[in-house]
Amino acid sequence: MRALVLAGGSGTRLRPFSYSMPKQLIPIANTPVLEYVVRNILDLGVTEIGIIVGDRVNEIQQALGDGSRFGARLTYIRQEAPLGLAHTVSIARDFLGDDDFVMYLGDNMLPDGIADIAEEFAVGRSAAHVVVCKVADPRAFGVAELGPGGEVLRLVEKPQQPRSDLALIGVYFFTAAIHEAIAAIRPSGRGELEITDAIQWLVSAGADVRASRYEGYWKDTGKVGDVLACNERILDGLRSSMDGEVDDVSVLVGPVVVEEGARIVRSRIKGPAIIGAGTLVKDSHIGPHTSVGRGCAVIGSRLEHSIVLDGASVTGVQGLHSSVVGRSASVGITSQSADRYRLVVGDHTQVEVAA
Ligand code: G1P
Repeated sequence: MRALVLAGGSGTRLRPFSYSMPKQLIPIANTPVLEYVVRNILDLGVTEIGIIVGDRVNEIQQALGDGSRFGARLTYIRQEAPLGLAHTVSIARDFLGDDDFVMYLGDNMLPDGIADIAEEFAVGRSAAHVVVCKVADPRAFGVAELGPGGEVLRLVEKPQQPRSDLALIGVYFFTAAIHEAIAAIRPSGRGELEITDAIQWLVSAGADVRASRYEGYWKDTGKVGDVLACNERILDGLRSSMDGEVDDVSVLVGPVVVEEGARIVRSRIKGPAIIGAGTLVKDSHIGPHTSVGRGCAVIGSRLEHSIVLDGASVTGVQGLHSSVVGRSASVGITSQSADRYRLVVGDHTQVEVAA
């Protein structure tokens, strides 16, 4: 079996971060989402992994390399334009050959893994095996109607009037039968070759198409709120480790990771929290549920339920919560009067100040 990971999407819902980095590299507990994806695939014993990339090919290649540090063999496949999930399968045809494969959307986090579903696919070996989750508003997803035994009766991409609340999530298992289906379908209203339509083509042709309900935790990290929620969830499983320096008056409570070269001075860190390599935390309260990236400075500040990306600084700010601070951004106070703010706010940024 092979794997195809989709990391070409532009991430408009994750602006402003996606202006300067591919959304699939957003860090969750200081590790890029894409790395969790690759590790879940390796857990299946699959090492031949094709990565579909768009314009951001260089950054993704820089982050994952050739895969040897994970024990994977990565093949980068360039998609010149976002023409749909099924289109990515067609451009990966040489890489995939006639092998079975798992297709995995590179912004989907499934920390409980996908081994059970891979096992069901391996046993049943249906033409396609999809994964569904109950969602509150299925209109943003591909929607599945299932029969009593888990067989797929019908699939519709983003229906206005969904006939079930079961959404397709970002993991699909296929045999080579999918290639004929993709060759037969036409672009949808949004101009994309939809994988949902290709799977529906298989259903209509009488092929065996099955679904598993995913019982574990699943998050599409396409939006900032979901990134923060997912960060909390992953931090909940954190185990303490100490590779930095903590002075005698600082207090660490609960699971805290202090990466190499980080320094904690006169501060309190309430886990779960992770302090990235080379970061300085001074006279501050951090956590719970906070990740601070590498090479940051948090000075005289209090922050919780937040993510601070590499190279950022937070100085003199009390009560930062549910925030994401971008790479090399700085958040600080002014010596001007208390009712004035000075902001240099990038495109599509969100700022909330006290009323
Ligand atoms: C894609 C699929 C959709 C699926 C979703 C899961 O949607 O087309 O069927 O439910 O991923 O995240 P897109 O992200 O392209 O809107």
